[in-house]
Amino acid sequence: MRLLVTGCCGFIGSAFLRRALADSNVERLVNLDVLTYSGRRENDAEIRDDPRYRFVEGDIADAEIVSSIFEEEKFTAVVNFAAESHVDRSLFAARRFVKTNIEGTLCLLEAARAEQERAGTKLRFVHVSTDEVYGDLGPEDPAFSETTPLDPRNPYSATKAGADLLVQAFAATHKLEATVTRSSNNYGPRQYPEKLIPLMITNAIDDLPLPIYGDGLNVRDWLWVEDNCEGVFSALTKGKSGEVYNFGGESERTNLDVVKGILSALGKPESLLTYVKDRPGHDRRYAIDCRKAQSELGFTPGLRFEEGLERTVRWYVDNQDWWRPLKGGSFQDYYQKHYGKLGLST
Ligand code: NAD
Ligand code: TYD
Repeated sequence: MRLLVTGCCGFIGSAFLRRALADSNVERLVNLDVLTYSGRRENDAEIRDDPRYRFVEGDIADAEIVSSIFEEEKFTAVVNFAAESHVDRSLFAARRFVKTNIEGTLCLLEAARAEQERAGTKLRFVHVSTDEVYGDLGPEDPAFSETTPLDPRNPYSATKAGADLLVQAFAATHKLEATVTRSSNNYGPRQYPEKLIPLMITNAIDDLPLPIYGDGLNVRDWLWVEDNCEGVFSALTKGKSGEVYNFGGESERTNLDVVKGILSALGKPESLLTYVKDRPGHDRRYAIDCRKAQSELGFTPGLRFEEGLERTVRWYVDNQDWWRPLKGGSFQDYYQKHYGKLGLST
């Protein structure tokens, strides 16, 4: 396999790099990443010396760059992780989400289609998406399955849903061997400290307030990042063209339960919990039915949440050099400016 994998300086993509290069069928892996605020060059440190690996700094929405690396590398498969990924940011910067998540995906699809025609062989394309495209659930609703209608409710999930539909359209019309994977919330090492779990861990380490949106009873399903990567890799090797696969962790928890678990792991007091104004359009509950991926791809939800959370907390305690630089300067200014605007500041 000659792989183009995008967004591998981010949280999930960097875990996928390690998983993919462990497979001897991968003869080449090019990581295309434009290094936005959440892309960290050091995230590929462990595999940088692998002669099969190459990093290219560039935008997936830049057709010139994308077509030139296709020409040089003659890829046989693409895995697209690159995205603007944070719901809160999409409330203020939706245009950037359209550019990367929709136009960027289209640009990759067009290059893949052209390469398939040139080479005369099928090209595999895995698009990494999210359960958020299904909208939200009430407490008693059945979990999302692959046939649940799309009902995105914020600019992030709307752009992910748009990209998913483009991928399926290219599978139908241009016979790309394309699949879409939709996972629940991932957690683990190297997640940018703006998402719930790393934000709360890093704030708690420094005895800073932990901002809980609304009543803290919103429910998310949590999936260990390496289990998602295993699922994405199995979609690449075994997925059926045009199909969608859901991956979940069978670990539904309220936000309050998750944050209390972090405080307890760090031995910090619950007085750090600080209730703030709710996120606009805040989805109440996500839950994933992943039986299709279990039976067709052999996917398993894997690591138990409590153990994964413990490992994640340990990683942030032990790797403060990684996250401390991300908590100062422009990051804090950004939050003050935008959270202030929404009345979300503590
Ligand atoms: P992340 O924000 O940590 O990483 C995104 C990476 O993409 C960064 O390295 C960034 O530099 C790169 N990138 C952004 N725009 C780019 C562009 N235009 N061109 C090239 N590179 C670009 O995100 P993540 O949490 O690792 O998410 C990866 C993928 O998984 C995304 O598609 C996201 O929608 C999806 N997903 C994430 C979760 C989750 O819980 N984090 C859950 C389900 C699905
Ligand atoms: P997040 O990590 O942003 O993921 P998503 O919105 O994609 O599920 O948020 C997870 C949950 O945690 C979500 O219900 C919003 C909530 N949350 C807070 O209560 N406080 C915070 O500071 C953040 C970032 C999230």
